[in-house]
Amino acid sequence: MTPRESNEPIPVPQPVATGLTRAAIFLVVVLNQSAKNRSVVQSLCADLSALVRSVGFREQEGTLSCVMGIGSEAWDWIFGKPLPAELHKFREIREGKRHAVSTPGDLIFHIRAQRFDLCFELATQITTRLGPAISSTDEVHGFRYFDSRDLIGFVDGTENPKGEEAVEATLIAGEDPMFAGGSYVIVQKYLHDLTAWNAVPVERQEKIVGRTKLNDVELDDKTKPTYAHNALNKVVRDGKEIKILRDNMPFGNAGEKEFGTYFIGYSRSPKTIEEMLHNMFVGKPKGNYDQLLDFSRAVTGCLFFVPSATFLENVKP
Ligand code: HEM
Repeated sequence: MTPRESNEPIPVPQPVATGLTRAAIFLVVVLNQSAKNRSVVQSLCADLSALVRSVGFREQEGTLSCVMGIGSEAWDWIFGKPLPAELHKFREIREGKRHAVSTPGDLIFHIRAQRFDLCFELATQITTRLGPAISSTDEVHGFRYFDSRDLIGFVDGTENPKGEEAVEATLIAGEDPMFAGGSYVIVQKYLHDLTAWNAVPVERQEKIVGRTKLNDVELDDKTKPTYAHNALNKVVRDGKEIKILRDNMPFGNAGEKEFGTYFIGYSRSPKTIEEMLHNMFVGKPKGNYDQLLDFSRAVTGCLFFVPSATFLENVKP
């Protein structure tokens, strides 16, 4: 890999900041690291955008997109040094009963579309291409629920940045010029104890989230506690709020009584999401933690770098 020359065109990002979709697949893959498999992965990097085009063209209203991210160990194995400046393994947090686990993950494919069949077809083509290079997968099928609510019944995503603000929040520029147009993504799969949550009076649920449940209005500063989810997740540096871009999706299995939220957050530095996680799990100040975690358990946790689309297209097997 050679450093980007200053006169080269600005890299085209992957479709990190796209509109909301009705369906998504979160596919996290652990790789079998052998020399033969390395070229299989490299050729998938180069061909990914063509694959998305061929599946997506079959149903153009479907707005199929795919973002590919690469974990730190896999990056070293696939591309060698240097690594993107802030790429490292997801750091677990353990505090009291709360545990943000760190779990294996070499690649993520965040596949979004208005129709689930498009997501499934692309996921199938990706896993077929990777074939024996895959040693295990964690695949979550997300769906958009009523009014963009999560399964705890609150509208999720309202305060996301949009347009230019989303680009500013997610895309690396001059701070790591060799990886400009890239982004970091953190994912966590949460399982909820909905029986316990639904027994909590709505007024208290609203204090925990920091917004009203029915009509999704932010609580005013007098009513909103410092432990509210949206208070703990407000990160301010030098007087400026640092936003992240989320596209959480509900998932579940009714028969198994599994009710979940797949958290996915993009940012131009993982530090922002790490600070939010610290505030949620440890508390701000310590002990003033996010009470959503009394009803929700993180069962996965991974950090990936999302290179620009230009970077991926130029990968040579
Ligand atoms: C149990 C999993 C989670 C659920 C159910 C959940 C749900 C929600 C809801 C309902 C909102 C309010 C509406 C909105 O603005 O989107 C919200 C806001 C937010 N959440 Fe979460 N969330 C979860 C995990 C996380 C995690 C792990 C992070 C970051 C590490 C995070 C970061 C944020 C941020 C930054 C906001 C916007 C705060 C604001 O500016 O008002 N969330 N979340």
